Amino acid sequence: MHPLLSSQLAAARALLPDDVFAYYAGGAGGQVSLHEAPDAWSAVRLRPRVLRDVSRIDTSLELFGTRLETPVLVAPTAAHGLAAPEGEVATASGAAAAGSLLVLSTRSSRDLEDVPAGPWWFQAYVMRDRERTLSLARRAVSAGASAVVLTGDVPYLGQRHGRSRLDLLGPAAPEAGQDPSAGLEAIGQLAEATGLPVLVKGVLRGDDAVACLHAGAAGVVVSNHGGRQLDRAVASAHALPEVVSAVGGQAPVLVDGGLRSGLDILCALALGADAVLLGRPVLWALAAGGADGVESCLRAMTEDLAHVMGLAGARSLSELTPDLVSAPGQAPAARTSPLS
Ligand SMILES: Cc1cc2nc3c(=O)[nH]c(=O)nc-3n(C[C@H](O)[C@H](O)[C@H](O)COP(=O)(O)O)c2cc1C
Repeated sequence: MHPLLSSQLAAARALLPDDVFAYYAGGAGGQVSLHEAPDAWSAVRLRPRVLRDVSRIDTSLELFGTRLETPVLVAPTAAHGLAAPEGEVATASGAAAAGSLLVLSTRSSRDLEDVPAGPWWFQAYVMRDRERTLSLARRAVSAGASAVVLTGDVPYLGQRHGRSRLDLLGPAAPEAGQDPSAGLEAIGQLAEATGLPVLVKGVLRGDDAVACLHAGAAGVVVSNHGGRQLDRAVASAHALPEVVSAVGGQAPVLVDGGLRSGLDILCALALGADAVLLGRPVLWALAAGGADGVESCLRAMTEDLAHVMGLAGARSLSELTPDLVSAPGQAPAARTSPLS
């Protein structure tokens, strides 16, 4: 883990009430997926290039028409008001200051209209009241959102380890009714209602990614919801190559889950992701230092990424290609014994 993330985590643990810390930190079931996520990134091995003039490193990119200084975005997480009084307003300002963007959760502590100027996306759930889902998304458009991220992996709330009253917060809490009967048609409905690109979050299979794109998605987010939904769901590091290959460059592929250093992010981008999202690290940063904490976290991760890009011989994000990695699980080249 990057040292700044470790220190922000320690500060958040000291500052937050125990039940808030446990709500943010926890995962579903036996927390197998939660713990596996960072290990899966650590298992990726690199094949660095040499002598490539890495005196200048560029981490900028364009995503759905928005120019960003970094491919490190802020994942949608609920209830930032539990971490800092200004909640998502502070998170959005910190993200914008770092040249990144916030994906605002449906379960935000703040109104959509409070989000400060700067690029941001809106995360939607399909609720039982479909018109309510669409009108919330339309409100997000009026408030300035430039894309919609439809979370597809919450037909029901996962069996959260240490679930508390905090799991029941916000407008998409179970009583407000996520719709377990939702299907691919929700993608087109959201796209039509908002006129914005719709990304589907929670995709872990190539066939699902293709089905989402056919149904009108403009991109997918490979994610197992930070290990908070179906425990033992495959790690996003392991699902990413299959999804990238199925999508075949037709649309952006983003990824989240357990990314804690520039090296983790380098591996994700080299495996074919166009950008990554951070969940819990941003919550710790917000608790530890408000908007400034969020900005420092994102800047530190971006600087760390730039540093390892240089060491790997990549000057720009487009030079982070699959030949840079030996993917986890890939069989090592057959070795001939020197004695045989
Ligand atoms: C406290 C918490 C709340 C979350 N709330 C949401 C949410 O409202 N909507 C959503 O799509 N994902 C939600 N997620 C999942 C994140 O968007 C993301 O997939 C995950 O946190 C990434 O893993 P990481 O925390 O290891 O970086 C939440 C995650 C956490 C930790």
